[in-house]
Amino acid sequence: MKRRILSALLSMTLAASLLAGCAAAPASAPAASDAAPAAEASSDEAAPAAEAAGGAGGKVGVSMPTKDLQRWNQDGDNMKTQLEAAGYEVDLQYASNDVQTQLSQIENMISSGCNVLAIAAIEGSSLGEALDMAKDAGIPVIAYDRLLMDSDAVSYYATFDNYMVGTVQGTYIKDTLDLDNADGPFNLEITAGDPGDNNAGYFFNGAYDVLKPYIDEGKLVVVSGQNTFEQCATPTWATETAQSRAENILSSYYADGTNVDVWLCSNDSTALGVENALAANYNGEYPIITGQDCDIENTKNMIAGKQSMSVFKDTRTLASQVVKMIGQILNGETVDVNDTETYNNNVITVPSYLCEPVFADVNNYKELLIDSGYYTEDQLQ
Ligand code: BGC
Repeated sequence: MKRRILSALLSMTLAASLLAGCAAAPASAPAASDAAPAAEASSDEAAPAAEAAGGAGGKVGVSMPTKDLQRWNQDGDNMKTQLEAAGYEVDLQYASNDVQTQLSQIENMISSGCNVLAIAAIEGSSLGEALDMAKDAGIPVIAYDRLLMDSDAVSYYATFDNYMVGTVQGTYIKDTLDLDNADGPFNLEITAGDPGDNNAGYFFNGAYDVLKPYIDEGKLVVVSGQNTFEQCATPTWATETAQSRAENILSSYYADGTNVDVWLCSNDSTALGVENALAANYNGEYPIITGQDCDIENTKNMIAGKQSMSVFKDTRTLASQVVKMIGQILNGETVDVNDTETYNNNVITVPSYLCEPVFADVNNYKELLIDSGYYTEDQLQ
């Protein structure tokens, strides 16, 4: 993995001032909705027939992992809105976190004549069959947010800088505890992401690389002893799984009144599980808790003092970058990438566009989330 020399850049102050995502990508989608529709059905009924106006046109298959987690609803909505505005027909499908469903949805997209596919995989390495089919049919594939692994049928990757997400979280902990000057020791627990998601290791490593020197010198102590990615992982990023692991840790290691000073959580769905576990099973001083995505429930918790920070990844920005790439692919133009080294999927290094994640906390959430139209004030009540 390409190590980024970011710690100097990522003081809390600077991170807080990084207000733009991908510089080139204007955000224009409507505010996100809190309510995910119950059914995970195709939403292409409303898609108008593609018009070849302005060089656009053609059909785009957008495959999303699930409606269970807030962000994918926003990603799907943003992609559909922006693609239709650019004159494409859209086949948007959610796969209920079921790999077989995602495989058959993608195969249908191919046989129904999609010209390009954007795929956010449930499990990065399980879609080989469908990707081979796309390659045979000459259909370019963009890996959306999560890298598609073990395949040479991936044309491009668009995501946020995943390692940087972790360094923003780790640097926040380092700065907040003033680890260079404070004596400590401070007790730390870690909740990481889904082992089937290539991003999860980047988040973990980005944070761990910042914290490791302090763990090595004994200033940060992982009381449970669970400090490898495998020990801390949360399959499918499920809140309930993160919650039950946190409950076990709290009852095994903290029931005697020991304080947990900080809980590094890779994202908001897992942070929510830890926050639920703390509410029911812990009476000590409330820890620093990290997150990622600025989900509505977590933003409310930040405002209420139950989560310390999150990392904002504006899904409008990622969608507009991908829409731009799709236009470039279909028009035979050079496709915008800004990283050609980092993302090797075990077969090829996939040309990538990395958007910039942004530090968020109770001090800047209004500017980031409300002033920018991402949420309305009512959604955060
Ligand atoms: C995304 C995160 C998200 C997680 C769970 C990851 O692939 O990059 O933003 O929190 O999946 O949905």
